[in-house]
Amino acid sequence: MERLKGKVAVVTGAAAGIGREICLRLAREGATVVGMDREWAGVESVAEEVRAQGGVAHALAGDVSIGADCAQVHAWVDEQLGAVQVLCNVAGIVDTGTLVEASEESWQRTMDINLKGIYHMCRLFVPFLTASGGGSIVNIASVAGPFAVKERGVYSVSKAGVIGLTKSLAIDFIGEGIRANAICPGTVETPSWRERVNQAPDPERALRDFIARQPMGRLGQPEEIAALAAYLASDEAAYMTGQAIAIDGGMTM
Ligand SMILES: NC(=O)c1ccc[n+]([C@@H]2O[C@H](COP(=O)([O-])OP(=O)(O)OC[C@H]3O[C@@H](n4cnc5c(N)ncnc54)[C@H](O)[C@@H]3O)[C@@H](O)[C@H]2O)c1
Repeated sequence: MERLKGKVAVVTGAAAGIGREICLRLAREGATVVGMDREWAGVESVAEEVRAQGGVAHALAGDVSIGADCAQVHAWVDEQLGAVQVLCNVAGIVDTGTLVEASEESWQRTMDINLKGIYHMCRLFVPFLTASGGGSIVNIASVAGPFAVKERGVYSVSKAGVIGLTKSLAIDFIGEGIRANAICPGTVETPSWRERVNQAPDPERALRDFIARQPMGRLGQPEEIAALAAYLASDEAAYMTGQAIAIDGGMTM
């Protein structure tokens, strides 16, 4: 199915995990994909993967927490492609621990990347989407936003913020043909998740604990999140905006 034929999609956090899979899926749906990540080599290799599967992708380096980097991505897309219809904000980090344990530095870094990064991108790209005739913004939040997850204090606050930001954009720009939705994944098997497990004092136990809290007895796969992102990006979801959709194997049912 080529639901995104003729559309340009900008994806942050494109070098790994969920962002990588969203790039591959949106390209298979016919979109021209612009991937941005602070890991240049990673995002370039994802763009190569897209080209190898017959798609069109461009790789840009940049840190979403830095306004000037986001402005460069915006300027590049404006100059080279002239329009954009889809923005997927995926870049994010996870700091673990309770709010009491969280350092001020962890608070600041998490808010800068997970929340201010989306603010930067939306501030730049919303007028661009409007000028391109409207479009779809897909923000990756987490079940840790609307629901309680143990020892994810700062992370949960940032992801609750992502949902608030998404709803605020949805209501303010509905008249301009912009839809904004948030995806709230449960636990998804990605490189950074695997790293968190490996860093636990007892990795085998950490893995067992992660799986034990999954009603389906398994973790989510990045492809499953990408499939939902592709739907929300497409015109099939034309009547959907301002929503925070959980995709979590029943974790929050
Ligand atoms: N994996 C999960 O279980 C899970 C669950 C819920 C939500 N999420 C969210 O999904 C998103 C992707 O997670 P993932 O597990 O695929 O992570 P990941 O670490 O595998 O990939 C994240 C990508 O974002 C990039 N990135 C990080 N900070 C950046 C910055 N400041 N600027 C630009 N790029 C940056 C990284 O380089 C990396 O390529 C995150 O927002 C995360 O919070 C993940």
